[in-house]
Amino acid sequence: MKPVKAQITGTGMYAPEKVLTNVDLEKIVDTNDEWITSRTGIKRRHIAADDETTSTMAAEAGRQAIENAGLKPEDIDLVLVASLSPDMMFPATACLVQDKLKLPNAGTVDVSAACSGFVYSFSMAAGLIGIGLYKNILVIGSEVMSRFIDWTDRNTCVLFGDGAGAVVLSAVPGDSPSEVIDIILGGDGSGGDQLTLPAGGSKSPATHETVDQKLHYLKMNGNGVFKVAVRSMTDITQKLIDRNNVPVEKVKLVVPHQANFRINDAVRERLHMTEAQMFNNIFEYANTSGATIPIGIADAVKQGLLKRGDYVVMVAFGGGFTWGAVLLKW
Ligand code: UT7
Repeated sequence: MKPVKAQITGTGMYAPEKVLTNVDLEKIVDTNDEWITSRTGIKRRHIAADDETTSTMAAEAGRQAIENAGLKPEDIDLVLVASLSPDMMFPATACLVQDKLKLPNAGTVDVSAACSGFVYSFSMAAGLIGIGLYKNILVIGSEVMSRFIDWTDRNTCVLFGDGAGAVVLSAVPGDSPSEVIDIILGGDGSGGDQLTLPAGGSKSPATHETVDQKLHYLKMNGNGVFKVAVRSMTDITQKLIDRNNVPVEKVKLVVPHQANFRINDAVRERLHMTEAQMFNNIFEYANTSGATIPIGIADAVKQGLLKRGDYVVMVAFGGGFTWGAVLLKW
């Protein structure tokens, strides 16, 4: 079988209307704008309204991406949703999105790889298109982080935000100038306890005690995670461009996970890239986990930063530990 080329044909994003600034947070926990800005680059985050959920935001981003690709709902063969904050344990959020968008021909599945979830989902979509099975796949990252963080814990609550991003990945003719070129996925399960939501699963089902102990909120060892994030994102980006003979100066844009501006700047320095080559929008959205990269791609498109044939890298790091990078020609 001849491999089929895949390329991004549509993008979309959604950020809730409500904005919580660092100054607003000063009234909630013992923190300040100067600390948050200098340690993370974050200035604001968007927070879902009471009637918004991971699936409603995912559906809105997905609707835009389908429209932007010039497709109809019946053209979509599969919906993949990357999320660590699904509407519920099951059914999958992808099923809820399929129903909301009325996609009659689409399979549905959620992907659990924390903040790397979008890159993992995208890779699976590229593979399914590559073997000629599907033509158009909707890949979404969507998170309502605000419902899984402890708003009394200043170590974590200042870092996260809510939002969704989506792309349509489509089969394209062999002579297309745009294509997904190469992918690296990796992980280290021994780091699982560094970034976790401890209770609510089969190991520790919900009880009064788990709720009292706040075990249904995200826990993170920030320092430990920071170091692995810098190392892994640098290593896989370097490996990806080297093995495809793409000189670093030829990379138009790296769209990285947005966990901390200092992480992305350290990666940029190690890769000897210019500031213009490293996309950052953490100041506006904070860390939206699996949604940061599709929001970043949609945002970069809106800003007119990408043109046909540009080399683009998407690189993620997250709980698990998980990491992954995609090299593509826009
Ligand atoms: O998306 C998944 C991957 N996630 C990440 O990659 C996140 C990685 N980690 C980080 O981004 C950083 O480690 C943090 C932003 C979480 C923390 O930054 P840091 O420079 O590593 O700070 P720290 O944890 O070493 O804390 C320094 C100080 C501590 O005070 P003491 O012990 O030195 O007196 C903290 O208590 O800052 C204090 N602190 C705060 N102060 C004001 C922690 N959070 C806050 C806060 N406001 N919100």
